[in-house]
Amino acid sequence: MKRLLPTLLAAALLAGCGQPEQRHEAAPAPPASSGRRYPVEIHIPPKLTSIDTGKVDALGRPIRAECVSCHTARRPERLPASTAELRAFHQGMSFQHGELACGSCHVVGAQDTLRKADGTLLPMRDAMQLCAQCHGPQFRDYTHGSHGGMQGHWDLSRGPRLRNHCVDCHDPHTPQFQPSNPVLPPADRLLPPAGPSRPGFTVPRLSQEPHR
Ligand code: HEC
Ligand code: HEC
Ligand code: HEC
Ligand code: HEC
Repeated sequence: MKRLLPTLLAAALLAGCGQPEQRHEAAPAPPASSGRRYPVEIHIPPKLTSIDTGKVDALGRPIRAECVSCHTARRPERLPASTAELRAFHQGMSFQHGELACGSCHVVGAQDTLRKADGTLLPMRDAMQLCAQCHGPQFRDYTHGSHGGMQGHWDLSRGPRLRNHCVDCHDPHTPQFQPSNPVLPPADRLLPPAGPSRPGFTVPRLSQEPHR
């Protein structure tokens, strides 16, 4: 009995320690020898393929309208010269992005497509390649993990990682970082950290997963 008590205590302690770790694991860690690496995924913001209608369904979830639902039938002959020309829909958009024209990024009659400076067409969901061609230094920093934030595991042998998309933080039309965007409040030193954030730099919550 004298020998059993410490053993039981140690077992209880170990079990206690193991729990928070398990709760955080998205999937059981692979055996160390397998060499398996979890993927790094880039979040695809819904605003690349649909817009918020401002309405909610019976369960209170926001209703979104797909771009293609309106744009398959619309084949205008040219792009607007400014946001002020948008009168039938998308009214009131603001635009402040260097001296760029709408046609620097948009394609006439193909609203789900973007174009790079050399004329290469990109599906809307590949918008990051568009940003990267003009913002090389920031894209390089992003690729190295020092711009744009991330969630999940640093050690990819233990779990996956989720990166934010450029347009999660920068509106392509008014890309200056807006501190008033609806993101998590800044980290409070008296509260446990809400996510991967640094002072003055807040990463929006992208998943429903509770943070540690
Ligand atoms: C409810 C219908 C509707 C939805 C949904 C919609 N659009 Fe539009 N969009 C329009 C209409 C109508 C115009 C023309 C407005 C005008 O010229 O006054 C327009 C104009 C545009 C233009 C200007 C160039 C052009 O072809 O006229 C772009 C670019 C555009 N939309 C992109 C998008 C994208 C991207 C989405 C999804 C993220 C989207 N739209 C969703 C109806 C819609
Ligand atoms: C730097 C590239 C870029 C430029 C320049 C640009 N757009 Fe866009 N535009 C995008 C991207 C990317 C999206 C899809 C993501 C989004 O809606 O935020 C988009 C979406 C849209 C939409 C869909 C609805 C919405 O509210 O976003 C409209 C309308 C639109 N653009 C019109 C214009 C007009 C008009 C101009 C010129 C004044 C313009 N864009 C210039 C990249 C650009
Ligand atoms: C065709 C080239 C081009 C493309 C494509 C482009 N940008 Fe820009 N961007 C510019 C220019 C030019 C400026 C203005 C630079 C300046 O004023 O110093 C700028 C400015 C910015 C700024 C700083 C804004 C500020 O006021 O501080 C951000 C952030 C930005 N862009 C993000 C993006 C993102 C995100 C995308 C992709 C959706 C994108 N850009 C696509 C050319 C581009
Ligand atoms: C987690 C949010 C976030 C993401 C994702 C993000 N950025 Fe930024 N970005 C910022 C913040 C915050 C600043 C402002 C830094 C400052 O004011 O010093 C910034 C600044 C910039 C600037 C202006 C730089 C300057 O010196 O004025 C550019 C250009 C830019 N980002 C491009 C990008 C591109 C391209 C991507 C995608 C590859 C991207 N960003 C992804 C948060 C983000």
